[in-house]
Amino acid sequence: MTVPPIDPFHAIGISTIAHRMAAEGRDIIHMEFGQPSTGAPREAIAAAHRVLDSDAMGYWESMPLKARIARHYRDSYGVDIQPDQIILTCGASPAFVLALGCCFAPGARVALARPGYVAYRNALRALHLQPVEIACGPDERFQLTAAAVAALDPAPDGLIVASPANPTGTILPAEEMQAIVRVCRARGIRIVSDEIYHGLSYIDPARCILQDDPDALVVNSFSKYFSMAGWRLGWLVVPPALIDAARARMGNLFLTPPSLSQHAGLVAFDCRDELEGHVRTYRHNRDLMLDRLPAMGLHRIAPPDGAFYIYADIGHLTDDSLAFCTRMLADTGIATAPGLDFDPVEGHRFMRFSFAVSTDRVEDALARMAPWFDAAHARRP
Ligand SMILES: Cc1ncc(COP(=O)(O)O)c(C=O)c1O
Repeated sequence: MTVPPIDPFHAIGISTIAHRMAAEGRDIIHMEFGQPSTGAPREAIAAAHRVLDSDAMGYWESMPLKARIARHYRDSYGVDIQPDQIILTCGASPAFVLALGCCFAPGARVALARPGYVAYRNALRALHLQPVEIACGPDERFQLTAAAVAALDPAPDGLIVASPANPTGTILPAEEMQAIVRVCRARGIRIVSDEIYHGLSYIDPARCILQDDPDALVVNSFSKYFSMAGWRLGWLVVPPALIDAARARMGNLFLTPPSLSQHAGLVAFDCRDELEGHVRTYRHNRDLMLDRLPAMGLHRIAPPDGAFYIYADIGHLTDDSLAFCTRMLADTGIATAPGLDFDPVEGHRFMRFSFAVSTDRVEDALARMAPWFDAAHARRP
């Protein structure tokens, strides 16, 4: 068996250049990564300071945190899960590795939307699984449909669902999600649902897959809504039959997430006022961008229902999104992600902006971008 090739994450390359420019004194606006520019909630930080003096920080799984997460599923979605169905992980990324590892044998075919988060495709390949990409365009608001899943021949072994999605922020309507679950049940397809952007929605809250499918696996994290990306804390929810398989993988591959983060994460669950304040900022940033980007010629955007991204079609300006984003960074100091990261086929004509920065920075970015896009239109081939 050959070692599968893994694509680079181009936004990391852009970010490296952006940091180098900042070190040289340029004012950089970071819109390349989906990471909140705010820190962890204040009370979570205070709890971390306190616990540092009293806890030896050994390997640890916080039972209170598992119980709190289980309560969250009851309160937010009306779903009953037991705390031992929750595996605490070092973020969504390892949760995803555990989920794939305990559901699929090497060679299994796992379907996913294209465009989609870069790591889905690459993690599948790294685990010797076969990604089956479903092209999702503007007509489907870049989301999966039950019809597209039903049309896959042969049926895949698994399906990755992401709602709100990265890079578009679009949310699957409840009826479509239920229809997808019905198709998967009929065809024996296991669902892994990435719910990392839950809590960040500008329409109705996103539906949890467990409301429709108790056999699905759910990946989630403190990196987005809770604004704790660098604390490396997340979780996986597994059905009872997979608890032992998932726990064995967690123990052998990653041991436990950082103890300090687990203490802070428990407190973060009850910092709703501060966290909802972030959501209000993102909503405002989203509205500003949706209002101002069309005047710059960026009309073809699926308005994000959630998350904090705008995925814009720039096909009228370039067929090389990486070169385009690199040039925009050099000229304006605004770092963004090329569509190539999310879609190897069509991504050369898309770019993604993250608006998880302060409103002042969004205003600055829009002011810098307006003349730059005018010039880009003038330059176009
Ligand atoms: C859709 C999606 N899933 C998972 C992750 C990984 O998150 P974490 O920081 O929890 O590992 C990201 C990070 O940007 C993401 O966008």
